[in-house]
Amino acid sequence: MPITVEKNETLFHLKNSSVSYVIEILHNKYITHRYWGSVLSSYHGSNEIQMIDRGFATNPIPTLRDFSLNSLPLEYSTQGNGDHRIAGYQIRLENGTNVTDFSYVDYQVIQGKPKLTGLPATFGNQQDVTTLELTLEDAISQLKMILSYHLFENLPVITRTVRFENQSQQSVFLENTASLMIDLPSQQFDLITLDGSHTNEAGITRTPIRSGIQKIESSRGTSSPQHQPFMALTAPETTEFSGEVRAFHLIYSGNFSAQVEAEQYGSSRVVIGIHEGTFEWQLNPQETFQTPEAVLVYSETGLNAMSQTFHQLYQNHLAPTYFKEKERPILLNTWEANYFDLNEASLDKLANAAAEMGIELFVLDDGWFGKRQDDTSSLGDWTTDLTKLPHGIEGLAEKIRQKGMEFGLWFEPEMISKNSYLYDLHPDWALQVPHYPMTEGRRQFVLDLSRIDVQDYLIDVLSSYLDSGRISYIKWDMNRHLTEVASQLLTSVQQKEVSHRYVLGLYRILESLTTKYPHCLFENCSSGGGRFDPGMMHYMAQTWTSDNTDALSRTLIQYGYSFLYPPIMMGAHVSQVPNHQVGRITSLETRGHIAMSGNLGYELDFTQLDLNEKQEIHSQISFYKQMRPLFQFGQFFRLQMPNTFFASSWLFLNEDEAIIIYFNGLARPSVPVQYLPLHYLDESSDYVNQATGETFSGSELNKAGLTIPRIKEDFKTLLFHFKKKGLTEYKPYKIQLNMDFIRLFYKLRPLYLLSL
Ligand code: DGJ
Repeated sequence: MPITVEKNETLFHLKNSSVSYVIEILHNKYITHRYWGSVLSSYHGSNEIQMIDRGFATNPIPTLRDFSLNSLPLEYSTQGNGDHRIAGYQIRLENGTNVTDFSYVDYQVIQGKPKLTGLPATFGNQQDVTTLELTLEDAISQLKMILSYHLFENLPVITRTVRFENQSQQSVFLENTASLMIDLPSQQFDLITLDGSHTNEAGITRTPIRSGIQKIESSRGTSSPQHQPFMALTAPETTEFSGEVRAFHLIYSGNFSAQVEAEQYGSSRVVIGIHEGTFEWQLNPQETFQTPEAVLVYSETGLNAMSQTFHQLYQNHLAPTYFKEKERPILLNTWEANYFDLNEASLDKLANAAAEMGIELFVLDDGWFGKRQDDTSSLGDWTTDLTKLPHGIEGLAEKIRQKGMEFGLWFEPEMISKNSYLYDLHPDWALQVPHYPMTEGRRQFVLDLSRIDVQDYLIDVLSSYLDSGRISYIKWDMNRHLTEVASQLLTSVQQKEVSHRYVLGLYRILESLTTKYPHCLFENCSSGGGRFDPGMMHYMAQTWTSDNTDALSRTLIQYGYSFLYPPIMMGAHVSQVPNHQVGRITSLETRGHIAMSGNLGYELDFTQLDLNEKQEIHSQISFYKQMRPLFQFGQFFRLQMPNTFFASSWLFLNEDEAIIIYFNGLARPSVPVQYLPLHYLDESSDYVNQATGETFSGSELNKAGLTIPRIKEDFKTLLFHFKKKGLTEYKPYKIQLNMDFIRLFYKLRPLYLLSL
């Protein structure tokens, strides 16, 4: 039984083979947090709470001078009656006051995991997950609150949500409804967050926590490239390979806040949920409000183990099931090759070149619809520009399919241009505040997705394309943040609901489309990783990781995102040099290795390649196809955090094989010789280096390490491929294709094209 109920039904021990989480009800009323960490064989209260009569403490039970909410380790709490730490929730009653007083009522243990209505969430069957529901009531306001805990059987994961129910005859206002609050009995933590900006996402920030509140947040309408809705608290000595980590992640794509408060008596309170400053919700009689889900991951063996848990959870229990074990196609995207400059003839040429290289999915990016010559017009007018594509999208898609590739199409559904027919017809569909100017962003405005008519319009538009059966991939872009967040259909007291209603509207659209078209691969994009969050990953199996395609920048960005997401979820493209974002020149080999470390794609003009480049890309693609199961479904481990010279390395591993990618960063003189421990190979096996034929034991590679040869070249990458000894030897991919063969290939190319 993974959840045991003890001590006269006042103690709940959630336990699997790796983790324990203990909750205790005190005075039949207060839900206290007793333990979360490495699994306990049993729990009997050895860490009994010390009740101390402290200065300024207030006492909810008059007879108990030493009992105060302000120092009690609580599971969920409000301000107003004695707990002055950051609040998990705050409710305003109809009379304008903020005090509520919830008491524990009862519990329920459920095998499996009930669905969250209207919100993305992790899922699992009765064997995978056990649920504990704790019900509380405030008898005065007649409000009910259900705290749900979901324990995953085979992962050190607990997820939490909260549901509010209004059983009174009056409306109340939810001012703050975090998904998770927890009081940890220590402040000896480093705080890790993932922070950045457009083209510079997911930088790792690590600092010791200090007294007071530390907070990251987004009030931009999306989870944002500025901060990931994630926090981890680690022991100060924790590394990638060892030490404790407690991590928190919110499955939500809108405004959020994540806070940790190191309070006066040595404990730390963590709160994560919808951003309290931009939110309020009118809860009418008999209505319920459901918070998004928060994920708690525990690791006692460092950050890599934390990431393994997130990767497995998200791949197996969050992302669309159809894509769980489905290999992702190698794509060519037209954006950096063509930008807005498209026509059927040049696309046809590009597609022929792509097919020759072995590309599997041809993606037509921005510029194909309305009168879109640049970013000043047409968003909302999702009809093909027949001056560019006289045979329409269907005609183009059919041609691409005849060349042996799948066809994918770009949309930015949530947006509207003032210069569009849609705006002429429905100016009220854009987010706006009456009488005030609408703020432009990339010359465009945001549709009011809180409106059901707007949601239905977008479902219909996308469906009309997907119904043709010729589109197997959609890139769903979103290139600005929300301003003038107001809706004409809501009352004045509901205007602070719009940000959340926007996200709920988006989820409704995505739920509808992904249910209708479960085999269509959706790629999540918001100018790259601007909305790379677990909420979006529930509907879309992969994300365009960053608009920055420079190889060096990508080592940092992909490194950061790998804390939470497996490489199969990260789109990574080989693009042109000098790189369009930073101007850097890196070799095609380096660009290939870094892009293979995510979900390999290309984003450059294949018609302009010289023979050597063609040869190299061809061999990259065939190597990747051969190794795709390892790259996409193997485990991913970080071996070396990017240093001041940007050198870093990582490992892909499965039962049989390992690939190590070493990135040299900046070449420098007098470098120490590097022996790179691989840490995670099977120590009972020997491994054969596929390039040299040398055999090494797994244990020596793990502990003594792999010698990294001296490199005198900036940004050079090395790829090492090891296979367990005894398995059929793999032909080293380094054997370059024979030039005669290549010449013959290009001689025969016209015949090949004719046959299409
Ligand atoms: C931003 C995306 O991140 C790019 O890849 C591209 O799709 C452009 N938008 C198109 O406008």
